[in-house]
Amino acid sequence: MPRALVLGGTGAIGRAVARRLLAAGWAVDLTGRDPARMPGDVAGAGGRFLQWERGDAAALRRAAGDGADLLVDCVCFTAVDAALLLEAAREATSIVMVSSKAVYLDAAGNHVNADVPPRFDGPIREDHATVAPGNGDYDTREGYGRNKVAAEQVLLDSGLPVTVLRPSKVHGAGARRPREWALVKRVLDGRRALLLADRGRGIDHTTAAANVAALVEVVAARPGARILNAADPDAPSALEIARAVATHLGHTWEEILLEDDTDPALGKHPWEAAHPIVLDTTAAADLDYVPAGDYATTVVEELDWLVAAAAGGPDAALLPPADDPFFAPYLDVTAEDRFLARRGGEPAAG
Ligand SMILES: NC(=O)c1ccc[n+]([C@@H]2O[C@H](COP(=O)([O-])OP(=O)(O)OC[C@H]3O[C@@H](n4cnc5c(N)ncnc54)[C@H](OP(=O)(O)O)[C@@H]3O)[C@@H](O)[C@H]2O)c1
Repeated sequence: MPRALVLGGTGAIGRAVARRLLAAGWAVDLTGRDPARMPGDVAGAGGRFLQWERGDAAALRRAAGDGADLLVDCVCFTAVDAALLLEAAREATSIVMVSSKAVYLDAAGNHVNADVPPRFDGPIREDHATVAPGNGDYDTREGYGRNKVAAEQVLLDSGLPVTVLRPSKVHGAGARRPREWALVKRVLDGRRALLLADRGRGIDHTTAAANVAALVEVVAARPGARILNAADPDAPSALEIARAVATHLGHTWEEILLEDDTDPALGKHPWEAAHPIVLDTTAAADLDYVPAGDYATTVVEELDWLVAAAAGGPDAALLPPADDPFFAPYLDVTAEDRFLARRGGEPAAG
């Protein structure tokens, strides 16, 4: 039985990878800091939880044991992390490092975390320019992409069969930042109007954890040193995302599509993009990767997980708290209610 070790395995990507591999007959070990985050179904299917804190070299060597057929690292953020991974990965048959599309740089030198939004000419290929490698704090807007590039380089220079995956906006059950919560919470609150900035035109490519998992299974069978974008086969706009969520949850709301010059506090959502950000996934397709599904099909998993958690299910504690600063601008309805009151209140419940 082939064995996989998934570092940072209890989050969105790790869970999806574990589920996919377990179903295909693999033995899977998943690491995390908090055993309470281990999904019951993954444990039930034979997945084994190992406690590991990023940076703990000795524990990582123990977890890797005599080698794994597949080593997937979802918590590799810096060159130091990458060097540590290499120490444990020498005996692995195939290694996957989860990087990010945040590494890409447009012609004017802007990236997705820059003050000026990037403007790419079209779908971004893996050989597109990236930010320069760097170190320092990775948990900053400037540091994140630079540290990822530095980590990628350490791994790709090692001569080992490392596949670097560059996902975009990840969705999946177990996500620490489940962006669709910005919509699901509104549905659960029974809101009958949905305001969307820029008429909901923003496109920032989505990446289903289940599609990352499908790609991981492919590279497990075809080890090699390479970089692959990882994204959904479609690239829905914010309006299409909102419609997929409402349709799945059986909710209707009036779509209020706001023009650019409306109050910037209105209609905010997590997929705003001044210019479309779309990843070219041809390189993955050339490896005979078949996506698990498009956005509307794959997002269902996260939506059902969020609804179950909101109803007090086993993952209730993983829901974003009411004062979560990431979600605050999307879920603060003060300005929205004023706007709706001015035009005569929220539409009646349907
Ligand atoms: N989410 C996105 O939209 C997105 C987009 C592009 C790239 N990425 C990349 O994808 C990877 C994250 O994947 P994900 O979205 O599945 O993440 P996630 O849902 O946030 O899960 C993170 C996983 O790592 C564990 N973890 C977090 N901090 C840790 C630490 N200090 N030491 C050990 N384990 C730790 C978590 O469990 P515990 O908290 O219990 O330790 C969990 O298992 C990252 O490399 C990120 O850069 C994500």
